Amino acid sequence: MFGNREMVWFVGILFLDNILKVLCQCSGSTLTLTASEIPAKFTSPNYPSNYADNSACLWLLDSGVAGQPVMLYGDDMFLNCNNSDFITIYDGPTQINSLIKLNLCTTAPTLVYISSDRYMLVEFNSDPSNNAQGFELTYISAADTSATGCTAEYALTATTSPQYLTSAGFPATYSSGSSCRWLISGASLSTLNITITWSDIENGGSCEFDALTVYDGQYMCENSELIIECSTRETAPASTYTTTANHALVIFTSDASLDKYGFVLEYQQNPVVTTSTTSTTTTTSTTVSSTPTGTTSSSGQQSSSTDTETQVDIPLLFACAIGGAGFVVIIVTILHAVKFLKAKKLKKSGMIKVQTIAPLPARTAFDRRQGPNTLSFV
Ligand SMILES: *[C@@H]1O[C@H](CO)[C@@H](O)[C@H](O)[C@H]1NC(C)=O
Ligand SMILES: *[C@@H]1O[C@H](CO)[C@@H](O)[C@H](O)[C@H]1NC(C)=O
Repeated sequence: MFGNREMVWFVGILFLDNILKVLCQCSGSTLTLTASEIPAKFTSPNYPSNYADNSACLWLLDSGVAGQPVMLYGDDMFLNCNNSDFITIYDGPTQINSLIKLNLCTTAPTLVYISSDRYMLVEFNSDPSNNAQGFELTYISAADTSATGCTAEYALTATTSPQYLTSAGFPATYSSGSSCRWLISGASLSTLNITITWSDIENGGSCEFDALTVYDGQYMCENSELIIECSTRETAPASTYTTTANHALVIFTSDASLDKYGFVLEYQQNPVVTTSTTSTTTTTSTTVSSTPTGTTSSSGQQSSSTDTETQVDIPLLFACAIGGAGFVVIIVTILHAVKFLKAKKLKKSGMIKVQTIAPLPARTAFDRRQGPNTLSFV
C-alpha cells in the first residue's frame, strides 16, 4: 500500500509533529487545554521516559466558562526534588497571577488543586542536570449542577445531548451527612444512558460509608440498582449504563466523616425508537411534560399517571405485537391450507370421499341462511 517514499514522508511528519508538540509546550509558547466534565490528562515531555534538562513548559487549563474552576491532581509524579525540577501552579492565565502551589515536586494522589476561576496555569521547570521520569496530571472542570437535590428531590430532564450532574458544591468537597436525590427523566418510551465520568467518594469496601447509587426507574426499588459507586479517582474509562425505561433515580449519601470531592455524572436520553409517534419533549418539568405526549401518542397506554405504567407498556406492546402478528400468520396459513385443499379436490373430482365432505358445509350454510329467512317471513 505504502511506497517507501510515502512511508518515510509519513514517519517524518509524525516525528516532526511530536517534536513540535514538545516545542510548543516547552519553548516559550503555552499549550492551552480545555477542561471539560470528562477528565483528561497531560504529561511531562517524553513521559514515562525522562524529561529533558533545562525544560520550561507551560500548560494553560481553561474551563471555557467564566467563574467555573478547574481541578487538577497528580496521578504520577517523579521529579528530582533535590535539584530545581518542579511544578508551579498559578490561579489564573499568567505567571503574574497568585500561586496555588510553588515547588510542587512530589504529590500524593490525594492532593487536589482548584483554581478560583476558569484558568489555571501549570509551569514545569527542570534545571541543567539530573532529570527524572516526570509526571502525569489529570484535569477536569464541571459546573455545580446539584441544584437543591440535597434538600429535596430535584427533577432533571434528559435530552439527546449529554448533560452533567455533579455532587453539591463541585469541585469543592461534599458535605458530611448528605442525603441527596435527583430524578432524571427522558421522553416517554425512551431510555437513558448514565456514565459516571469522574468520582471521588469515600471508599468503604462495599460502599457502606458514602455512596452514589443510580436506580433503574423512578423509585428506590429493591434490586433495581443500575450503578453503585464509591471509587476514588479511577483511571479506567468509565462505563455507560442504559436504563430500561425513561427514568433514573440518583441517590447520594455520605456519613459523618471524610468528605471527598464527589462526582460528575453524565446523562443522555437515547432517541425514541417508535414507528408512529413523534415524541420530542423539549419542555422543562419532566413528569408533567411526559404525560401529555404519552396520552396524545395513543400507543396502547392509558392514562400515564405513574411511571410504573409506562415501564410495563414496552413489554406489553411487544407481547401484543408478537401475539397479533402470530395470530395473523395462523389465520393466513389456515386460509391458504383451505384454498389448497379445495383446489386439490376440484382436480381429483373422481374421489367420492372428498366430494362428500366438501358439499356438506355448503349445504349447512345454505340451510342456516334459509332458516332465519323463512322464519322472518312467517
Ligand atoms: C536527594 O537527597 C537525599 C539526601 O541528600 C538523597 O538521599 C536522595 O537520594 C536524593 N535524591 C535524588 C533523586 O537525588
Ligand atoms: C447509550 O449506550 C449504549 C451502550 O453503551 C451505546 O451503544 C449507545 O450508543 C449510547 N447512546 C448514545 C445516544 O450515546
